[in-house]
Amino acid sequence: MRMYDIIHKKREGFELSDEEIAFFVEGFTKGEIPDYQAAALCMAVFFRGMTGRETVKLTECMADSGDRMDLSRFGDLTADKHSTGGVGDKTTLIVAPIVASLGGKVAKMSGRGLGHTGGTVDKLESIPGFRTSLSPDEFLAQAERVGLAVIGQTGNLTPADKKLYALRDVTATVDAIPLITSSIMSKKLAAGSKNIVLDVKVGSGAFMKTPEQARVLARSMVDIGKSCGRNVNAVITNMDVPLGRAVGNSLEVAEAAEVLRTAKECDLLQVCRVLASHMVALFAGISPEEAEKRVREAISSGAAYAKMREWIAAQGGDVSYIDDTSLFPKTAYAIPFTSEYEGYIHSMDAELIGDASVVLGAGRASKEDVIDHAAGIILERKTGDRIKRGDVIMTLYTNRENAEESALEFCRKAVVFGKEKPEPEPLVYEVIS
Ligand code: URA
Repeated sequence: MRMYDIIHKKREGFELSDEEIAFFVEGFTKGEIPDYQAAALCMAVFFRGMTGRETVKLTECMADSGDRMDLSRFGDLTADKHSTGGVGDKTTLIVAPIVASLGGKVAKMSGRGLGHTGGTVDKLESIPGFRTSLSPDEFLAQAERVGLAVIGQTGNLTPADKKLYALRDVTATVDAIPLITSSIMSKKLAAGSKNIVLDVKVGSGAFMKTPEQARVLARSMVDIGKSCGRNVNAVITNMDVPLGRAVGNSLEVAEAAEVLRTAKECDLLQVCRVLASHMVALFAGISPEEAEKRVREAISSGAAYAKMREWIAAQGGDVSYIDDTSLFPKTAYAIPFTSEYEGYIHSMDAELIGDASVVLGAGRASKEDVIDHAAGIILERKTGDRIKRGDVIMTLYTNRENAEESALEFCRKAVVFGKEKPEPEPLVYEVIS
């Protein structure tokens, strides 16, 4: 078999055989197929697409390219979630304890932030003492005992995806639906959970800019996950505005803890309830409506918050920071971004706010950057709010002396004002099952 023929076949729009896809994934992972040929195939896939069968095979081959986490000891109780990435997306911190408090086993691997999007591992590491790397035995034992363990990506999971994603990133081939599907779903298959809820974000801070694009990606990931023997649902959620009020690591942990402790109604809690309900519905084999009742009870009874504390303590985190979030270190500077207008906030571009948070030190412009856990942004006002001249719309927190001007510039671009109150946008667009 020759890689040249595989590229040529896809370029002409034909369906690749299972053997050809396996040949490509194995050869590329071992370094026998050079980057330029893999890049050419990705570009051919970008223009020609892949059939469902091809995408299933690609996903399975990528999942098999390295180790797989064995969660079989938990039977069908395992539940995982994946977000396609956003700004202020701290849902895992809330959803995972809710699900674990209802009997689910959440043994989860999460990522770090890059660019305008944050990562759960960075957020957790802002809690003093919290360990995001556990040995496989520790990880599984904690998931068994507590029902919940979250660590960074470990071991040799999906090396094919690691290599291919890096190549796609520099060859303008990231946004091809079959390639995104196989990339995300291969990691979820290798991570081992039987039940998976995908949070597909849509809007200015998301990968998918329109609900139509998000729907196509969600449908593809759900179908492929099911074909690979998993129970999968996708929830399409709004990422036109950052979710909740905090953007930045310890600020987001504080917000998540307060939302779960007080159960105060807000956009963040609403989205978390929907995600958690679908996870519970899948692992418990009940309807989403019944699952939602249990989720509401877990939150209002304090069981979910108690589970959050138990989880954080189990991973070495200092729970006093969760009970009293004012203990988190403060930054040297707190800069108000005030309104020069009178009227309503019409939109707040999530990606630009994410960019501002990177300038403040809360995120990484490149993989090697070190983040400042205390830096970030609090949205004092959100889209739809009425504002007067001089009102504080956001407070920017940083330890960097020279960040103010460029962060404020991003904020000015991000916020659009208008005279009329805008129509509210849906928080949850659709559930694809
Ligand atoms: N996230 C992934 O993990 N893979 C993609 O291809 C795109 C987003």
